[in-house]
Amino acid sequence: MRNSTRRLALFSSAMLLAACSQQGTQAPVPANAGLKDIFKDAFRVGTALSPRQFNETDTASIALIDKHFNITTPENVLKWEVVHPTRGTFSYVQSDGYVAFGERHHMFITGHTLVWHSQTPRWVFEDTLGKPLTRAALLAVMKNHIENVVGRYKGRINGWDVVNEALNEDGTMRQSPWMRIIGDDFPIKAFEYAHAVDPQAELYYNDYNLETPAKRDGAIALVKRIRAAGIPVTAIGSQDHHKMDWPSAALTDSMFTAFRAANIHGNVTELDIDVLPRATNNNTADVAVRAQMQARLNPYAAGLPDSVQTALARRYGEIFKVYWKHRDIIDRITFWGVTDRDSWLNGWPVPGRTNYPLLFDRNGKPKPAYDAVVAVAGSSAR
Ligand code: XIL
Repeated sequence: MRNSTRRLALFSSAMLLAACSQQGTQAPVPANAGLKDIFKDAFRVGTALSPRQFNETDTASIALIDKHFNITTPENVLKWEVVHPTRGTFSYVQSDGYVAFGERHHMFITGHTLVWHSQTPRWVFEDTLGKPLTRAALLAVMKNHIENVVGRYKGRINGWDVVNEALNEDGTMRQSPWMRIIGDDFPIKAFEYAHAVDPQAELYYNDYNLETPAKRDGAIALVKRIRAAGIPVTAIGSQDHHKMDWPSAALTDSMFTAFRAANIHGNVTELDIDVLPRATNNNTADVAVRAQMQARLNPYAAGLPDSVQTALARRYGEIFKVYWKHRDIIDRITFWGVTDRDSWLNGWPVPGRTNYPLLFDRNGKPKPAYDAVVAVAGSSAR
């Protein structure tokens, strides 16, 4: 927004507020407000950012980002393979750009992700001869990584996904190299190292399919173990890479209810809704899963039928009603991308599909799903 326009907009909102307070009514949200303003009393609203966006080459999406979002996640540039590609080499060109964007645009800046088994080079787990590291040696590698990365952005990155996807679907610990070599206290060590470097930073445990009761309970148990070791955990991040028919609103509702009972905040960290036919017979969001392209898996290459557009809006509305209900323990809802064009679901698990999982279409226009989401705040505020 140009400065003069911004001043005018601020002036009009101030007049509106003054008029409302005289009449003793609640201030309505201005007609041109974005998601972050519409939901400002409930939670922050965020997006994942890619280099095209934080380097500001994709100018069209900058206006959308400024209008709608006040919290950001880097889609890839703070993953281990990008910032620490080889032993002893840290590469911060991209992540510096990401953090600078967040500061210029007054965002709450989050980092994703410190300890994960995917997008992590093999050398991390091996010595120079290719033999698996010992527990002590891998802990030293983890500590060195966290000290470097969290240390570089101390006081600038406000919250970190410390551990990503440590659990199996049944709630037990996943047999990742971290688990095999260090043991089941590896998340405790990761949180301990991150907290020591930046005690002010928010720290999160992040995973998918947490609506599944066994996995949800595994995440709660994990947070309790970390807290019992004396290290704070700010929230569990529920990725929420959803399908049209999974998880149900009831399961989502139970997840937040269980988080509240355990005194844990629950954030939504990677929201999107896949409208395409399933390419695998489960609900995983594991980035390692791949499937072959077949015509039947890509039915909407020429455009989204109205019936599916409407169903997507209904699905977003149903999910947001649950988020709204639990807003006292939800600090943010973050979408995994700005427009349908940006979404990783065009390339995963089947490369080259045309998907429609977000609130803004390929031209940045709000979809009916956007109106359904906004209606949740509007109806409940009355
Ligand atoms: C995805 C990115 O969106 C893709 O660009 C990349 O190729 C693979 O990773 N869970 C996570 C995210 O925690 O980091 C993943 O992001 C999506 C699933």
